[in-house]
Amino acid sequence: MSENEISFSDQLKKIAVKSLLGFQTVLVFGLGRRLGIFDYLQEKGSEETLEVSFTIDEIVQEMNLDPTYLDSWLHMAITCGLFELDDSCERCLKTAPYIYPLLVDRNNIFYMGDILGGFYYMAPYQSEFLENFKTGKRMDYFDLPYEVRIDVTKMSAILGKRVIEIFSNSCEESDKILQEGGFLLEIGCGYGFNLKNWVEKYPQAHFVGIDIDNQAIDHTKSLIAEHNWQEQVKVENIELNEYFQHYDFRKELRFDVVLLNQVLHEMEPKGNYRQLVFNDIYSLLKDEGILIVGETMIPGIFAPDQARYFEIMHKWFEVGIGSHFYDKDTFMEFIKTTPFKNAELIFDDRDYIWVISK
Ligand SMILES: C[S@@+](CC[C@H](N)C(=O)[O-])C[C@H]1O[C@@H](n2cnc3c(N)ncnc32)[C@H](O)[C@@H]1O
Repeated sequence: MSENEISFSDQLKKIAVKSLLGFQTVLVFGLGRRLGIFDYLQEKGSEETLEVSFTIDEIVQEMNLDPTYLDSWLHMAITCGLFELDDSCERCLKTAPYIYPLLVDRNNIFYMGDILGGFYYMAPYQSEFLENFKTGKRMDYFDLPYEVRIDVTKMSAILGKRVIEIFSNSCEESDKILQEGGFLLEIGCGYGFNLKNWVEKYPQAHFVGIDIDNQAIDHTKSLIAEHNWQEQVKVENIELNEYFQHYDFRKELRFDVVLLNQVLHEMEPKGNYRQLVFNDIYSLLKDEGILIVGETMIPGIFAPDQARYFEIMHKWFEVGIGSHFYDKDTFMEFIKTTPFKNAELIFDDRDYIWVISK
């Protein structure tokens, strides 16, 4: 058989092993997470090592779960590689080395728990998907349950951590301004996870976060109260244009940095809504201020070598809520329709941010 010839067994592995087991991994992981099994094991383990040994009886008793379901779930979870048999004790299991941290440790740079969790949440919406494929209809983001919306923004905040790193390494002047004080506005701050990372990075700066999701703003307020950040961080459940209309330019300073992290693709793509958003941002920024955009740039289907697996997943994951993404060229085209003069895509390894100025 020549090197390029397609073999049945390779094709079978591709679909039967990769896809079927992958699908089971999503389901098994998502269910285990909702049941709180991973939280239980994480609490049982130490901070240093995520390797935890346990018995089936222990989970049944501690978590009050049905033994038959648990046995079946664990069996599949072992097959999917989440757990392994632990030979050091009788009838024990353990979390799988290297793999398990990728599923539960948000500080791991290859952390994938929220992505698997996100796809798990897609499963119950298949009937809507079927209908929407035929009609082109979209689901409303706000019809998604609280549990889903909060997990989705945890995912964005992880991407946001790289945005902070790239910003602080490449935008020296703005970084210095925030270190010494300065004002940052996050539009679409969600549940506050991303804003929290910025406040921790720049404890001298002042922050405003706005979002149209009132439950998200309530959650952000509770984070602020928990850390006693009331003086430094203000948040409001308000749409940007309304915020702009009420902004008192005589009394309040404009912003040094405005941040849009994983928000733009969710904004209405039709008409000129996004242009209006950028007009408002332009007016709210100081003359030397910068707009930081953390967005997944997704090349089209016929530029496959340019797109990464994660980026394509992002597009597929959000198609049902009408998210609309750009690639580098279409984003530049969009910027030309706004008052901003400069937009630079800054890479750090494989991650990137847009830095946009007047
Ligand atoms: C994926 S979350 C990102 C949250 C946060 N920026 C982060 O990085 O963790 C997107 C957020 O944008 C908000 N959003 C969407 N459209 C918006 C708009 N037009 N104005 C303000 N917020 C908006 C949503 O409510 C949601 O909380």
